[in-house]
Amino acid sequence: MVQPEEIFKKLISHCKEYGFVFPSSEIYDGLGAVYDYGQYGVELKNNIKKYWWDSMTLLNENVVGIDSAIFMHPTIWKASGHVDAFNDPLIDNKDSKKRYRADVLIEEQIAKYDDKINKEIEKAAKRFGDTFDEQKFCETNPRVLENRAKREELHTRFAKALNDGNLEELRQIILDYEIVCPISGTRNWTEVRQFNLMFSTEVGSTADGAMKIYLRPETAQGIFVNFLNVQKSGRMKIPFGIAQIGKAFRNEIVARQFIFRMREFEQMEMQFFVRPGEELMWFEKWKQTRMRWHKALGLGDKKYRFHDHDKLAHYANAATDIEYEMPFGFKEVEGIHSRTDFDLSSHEKYSGKRIQYFDPELNQSYVPYVIETSIGLDRMFLSILAGSYVEEQLEDGETRVVLRIPPMLAPVKIAVLPLVKKDGLPEKAREIMNHLKFDYPCQYDEKDSIGKRYRRQDAIGTPYCITIDHDTLVDNRVTIRFRDTMEQERVPITDLGSIIADKISMKNLLKQIAEI
Ligand code: GAP
Repeated sequence: MVQPEEIFKKLISHCKEYGFVFPSSEIYDGLGAVYDYGQYGVELKNNIKKYWWDSMTLLNENVVGIDSAIFMHPTIWKASGHVDAFNDPLIDNKDSKKRYRADVLIEEQIAKYDDKINKEIEKAAKRFGDTFDEQKFCETNPRVLENRAKREELHTRFAKALNDGNLEELRQIILDYEIVCPISGTRNWTEVRQFNLMFSTEVGSTADGAMKIYLRPETAQGIFVNFLNVQKSGRMKIPFGIAQIGKAFRNEIVARQFIFRMREFEQMEMQFFVRPGEELMWFEKWKQTRMRWHKALGLGDKKYRFHDHDKLAHYANAATDIEYEMPFGFKEVEGIHSRTDFDLSSHEKYSGKRIQYFDPELNQSYVPYVIETSIGLDRMFLSILAGSYVEEQLEDGETRVVLRIPPMLAPVKIAVLPLVKKDGLPEKAREIMNHLKFDYPCQYDEKDSIGKRYRRQDAIGTPYCITIDHDTLVDNRVTIRFRDTMEQERVPITDLGSIIADKISMKNLLKQIAEI
């Protein structure tokens, strides 16, 4: 069986070969943890954005969008806590000279115990078949119990060290659990140090007295500082939300796993402003709403899970992650945070402006509390590709690589293929394409054998191929070929719209998750 790491490497090459993701500045040997999206990548990204944006702004009449600037007044980052507290605990291996996040090294150790437990469960499930009682097995099997106890002990110690900000203890855990550097294989570690993740630059010329500013590490602050503008100009009543999609920048030291951890990335964030005291109810609601959004894509419900935070960020009173099972394990794709009134109160304090809402029902003013949903667009993109990439062994002995991208997100929806490049077939194909292209992103292809063309479309995830042959000129029928089953059907040209529309409709997807 092909290992997930192997598949992941293949996926990275596939992304480059088929125009989804390129390493940035490649002809200059690249720039670490920065990537460019290619011709199909940008379409997929735009479709994910649309799915998110519409789910926020169309399905919730009390959620509106904004687009704030990346550059902001530097005091904002003082108020938000990023100048003082946006740090990663880093540790270096003296032999390999590689730098790691101490918390990530320990989390990976915890994940090893989880793997061991899951393997025992899987083995037993196979052995006992239908009679397998997972709960009883976990409560009695000595190996599961032993690994659970070890995991719990490590987890408790780790959570305490994080919450206390105890860097020495983080290092001690790494030593006690004999965690080695994956490159050198040694335990020759430095001290753990804090490192601020914000990039800075300057505005204004030096002569005028340049001002140091930061590239925003999250889009959320652009929403907070516009709270009053939107509330007043939109006459918004609490509860209401503000959504935003935009770039964020972090000087990630341990930048690994392709587009999973980048220095320049994109976030889709929504801040939902609520009455104080109601925040945990809304937190629960948004948790469920966001999970529904993910699962509606049909990549498999088992691929998602919640992971509650051990260490709450300086602004939160509850937080959870939605994790997706990437080829390198379950990883955070989205964070849902109950941010209390921390940000608005802090901006009140630092700006000296009153940032409050007058609640006519309560006849009272207050600083609203905030539930945030924050999803990384690039991680979402990666989860979709990882969940879609399949290598299939065909009956004729050949293999095909297919991206089973959910049809509504696929970069190209329909490939229009004249069987041969003559006899009026290209003209007929163009005529059909000119008809379809206003509703669906189409691609015309007349080069190479039809088999090769199908493979090319499979590789970019096109859900439908339409072949125009000589009979088409007579009967106005075409062959439609379905990506996932490879089945083919001969249908009237006039039926194409109705066959395809439902499957690729964003509207149907939104209907699945709408609470009507
Ligand atoms: N406003 C809250 C916030 O920024 P976060 O957990 O730091 O919270 C939210 O980030 C999401 O942004 C993450 O769940 C992840 O999907 C994405 N993200 C964060 N850092 C990233 C990076 N270096 N590269 C790619 N995506 C990242």
